[in-house]
Amino acid sequence: MKLKWCSLFVLMVLNLVIAKAQINPRKVELFNSDWKFYIGDDAKAKDENYNDSQWRQLSLPHDWSIEGAFSETNPTGQAGGGLPAGIGWYRKIFMVSATSQSKNIFIDFDGVYCNSEVWINGHYLGKRPNGYISFQYDLTPFLHYGAEKNVIAVKVDNSAQPNSRWYTGSGIYRNVWLSTTAKSYIPQWGTFVTTQVNIKNAIVRMQTLVVVHQEGLRVKASVYAPNGELVNSIITPIESADTLATIQQNIIVGQPKLWSVDKPNLYKVVLQVLLGTQVIDKYQSFTGIRTFNFDKDKGFSLNEEPMKIKGVCMHHDLGALGVAINVRAMERQLQILKAMGCNAIRTAHNPPAPEFLDLCDRMGFIVMDEAFDMWRKKKNKQDYYQYFPEWHKRDLEDQIKRDRNHPSVMMWSIGNEIREQFDSTGIILTRELVGIVKSLDNTRPVTSALSEADPKKNFIYQSGALDVLGFNYHPETYADFPKNYPGQKFLASETVSGYATRGYYDTPTDSTRHWPTSSKAKLTQGNPEFAVTAYDNVAAYWGATHEEYWKIIKKYDFLSGEFVWSGFDFIGEPVPYPWPARSSYYGIIDLAGFPKDVYYMYQSEWTTKPVLHLLPHWNWEPGKTVDVWAYYNNADEVELYLNGRSLGIRKKQGDDLHVSWKVPYEAGTLRATSRLNGKIVLTEEVKTAGAPARIELVADRKLIKSDGNDLSFVTVRILDAAGNLVPNADNLINFIIKGKGMLAGIDNGSQNSMESFKEPHRKAFHGLCLAIVQAMQSPGAITLTAQGDGLKPATVIIRVR
Ligand code: GAL
Repeated sequence: MKLKWCSLFVLMVLNLVIAKAQINPRKVELFNSDWKFYIGDDAKAKDENYNDSQWRQLSLPHDWSIEGAFSETNPTGQAGGGLPAGIGWYRKIFMVSATSQSKNIFIDFDGVYCNSEVWINGHYLGKRPNGYISFQYDLTPFLHYGAEKNVIAVKVDNSAQPNSRWYTGSGIYRNVWLSTTAKSYIPQWGTFVTTQVNIKNAIVRMQTLVVVHQEGLRVKASVYAPNGELVNSIITPIESADTLATIQQNIIVGQPKLWSVDKPNLYKVVLQVLLGTQVIDKYQSFTGIRTFNFDKDKGFSLNEEPMKIKGVCMHHDLGALGVAINVRAMERQLQILKAMGCNAIRTAHNPPAPEFLDLCDRMGFIVMDEAFDMWRKKKNKQDYYQYFPEWHKRDLEDQIKRDRNHPSVMMWSIGNEIREQFDSTGIILTRELVGIVKSLDNTRPVTSALSEADPKKNFIYQSGALDVLGFNYHPETYADFPKNYPGQKFLASETVSGYATRGYYDTPTDSTRHWPTSSKAKLTQGNPEFAVTAYDNVAAYWGATHEEYWKIIKKYDFLSGEFVWSGFDFIGEPVPYPWPARSSYYGIIDLAGFPKDVYYMYQSEWTTKPVLHLLPHWNWEPGKTVDVWAYYNNADEVELYLNGRSLGIRKKQGDDLHVSWKVPYEAGTLRATSRLNGKIVLTEEVKTAGAPARIELVADRKLIKSDGNDLSFVTVRILDAAGNLVPNADNLINFIIKGKGMLAGIDNGSQNSMESFKEPHRKAFHGLCLAIVQAMQSPGAITLTAQGDGLKPATVIIRVR
């Protein structure tokens, strides 16, 4: 009896072990914790026995630039936000169990800025100049197994400056992974999943690479519906004698649930390598079943429905967090954009973090995935042009292989405002780059963001290799596209370049201004605050206002849509101001994530939800004439009242996107009411605020995960005694955090503040600032208190679970 129970137990354990082996045949671990870091250079740091005990301990992802102080003399220059760069070293000690000796072990870096070199136990693994590309090294031949430790050392060299036109950050700023596989396995980016939609069904086509180490292997492909149900599986034997086999498999999906920007349905694709019934590798990804098309006359359509691309360009920084990726911070950016009605992102001007594309798949954004900001001809002394000849093929191939399974990706851009468009060298290079893309993915169009609008002078266009022509700026030439570029398909790959500072207003607003007026002119129109009015009426000389652009994009069906420069403010490129301006003025949303007023213009046009937004604030000198604007939709008129008196009804005329009144200021309440057929749709009020009296804290989420990464974004609002936001409050706020969290960054959206993003205090800017609270790895509560002189403090409690 005893024996029977005993053998039953052994059997159960064995089953469990097998089940476990089957569930998790490939082990993929985040490799982010317990790194040692040192700013500076020491060639010996690559050695196995180097003494790094004095180095700082940290977790990745990490951006050392964002931790530094702003300075005009930092070699990144004003374009780089004036933050430091230099050289840094990272080291990590780790153990590998003796049982792993029969495995392959790889290290994957999602992105290191830049010029990384990697050593394992003193062996050189290689270098990667491109700071935005993902790469892998095979550690297997150099590892110590069992009790002996392993050391990985990474040198990051961002010292050659300037190398960018925007803030890049420095360091291992994306995730690092350690993958353990069997000897037969699906290599990195070893699957290519495409879909074909027919009338009633869709075909999911899967092409899988397998490194073959033994005979008798089979590949099992399974597709799961968005609700988790298995659609079908198929098993195919590997018959090829090659050590690298390619397997093609198709699965039919009846009545597919299509992927769209409103309903981003995802199908799960699981590819398993089988030996007998044993699963020896498993590779999982998501796909979306959708069709899309660019048409020379009708523009873009998704699933056969015409649709304008309502997109924004985004650089990769996350404001106060720098470029160190954080999924919640990226998700918040995308949520804010989604609520505006944005449906597309251009990853300016480089491949994004893989998690960014996962979010776009899941949240329903169309992505233009961009490769380069320069080819052989430089834009900055030390930029990627010097690596382009040796590395462009590899970098572009890796980008396509990494990103081609994402349903959100619908265009490849081979470059932004590339200088080779101006001479005939552009022809050959364009053909070569398009050829590289097409050899790996011929399901998506290739485009490039061109800035030369004259077809005779544009050699990238003359290559004849682009599927869609992307044009940056020059709206005056749009109407003539069909005539000048017969038969071509168009996209406004970059538009606007308007400037604004949240909460700052110059009135009157009767004219549009260009700051400066031309490339030769100096900026003479600025102000001592280094601010730009937030009425949408100041732009770069090559740009125009948000309204001007959207009116033209709306007008022509052949224009597939636009990518506004830019969605969020970003660090660096603080045109039009000189130092101490250090972050951009282009965003529809400021660096802290607070919408500027023009956000509501887009929302009124790009969504169907009712919008009524009044600007500016209502704190002025008595007697001043103030221009009051309202953005609205779903209504045919807006009436404005000051202290109960009507100031008149306004209706948008023609292609107007806002209405306005000239109002002699008097303190009190400004109220607007929008009506449709005489019925009130919305009412909006702005009140004159008194002196700052208290602080209000508003957390975007009061319950976050205890995973060490999750964030709560806490908005600090400075209110008067009656609870009105004080629009010009700039009180210094001090933060005290207790419990299971830490302050990951502080910001206020000011474009020229020299305050650190990491210190626990900040001045409010136009009444607001932001504290980013990061969870620790244990559950409990976080108490964040904000206080300032003369203000009633506030506390918010965030639970961590
Ligand atoms: C464009 C460029 C962008 C940004 C923008 C600012 O020409 O592609 O990267 O520099 O101008 O207006």
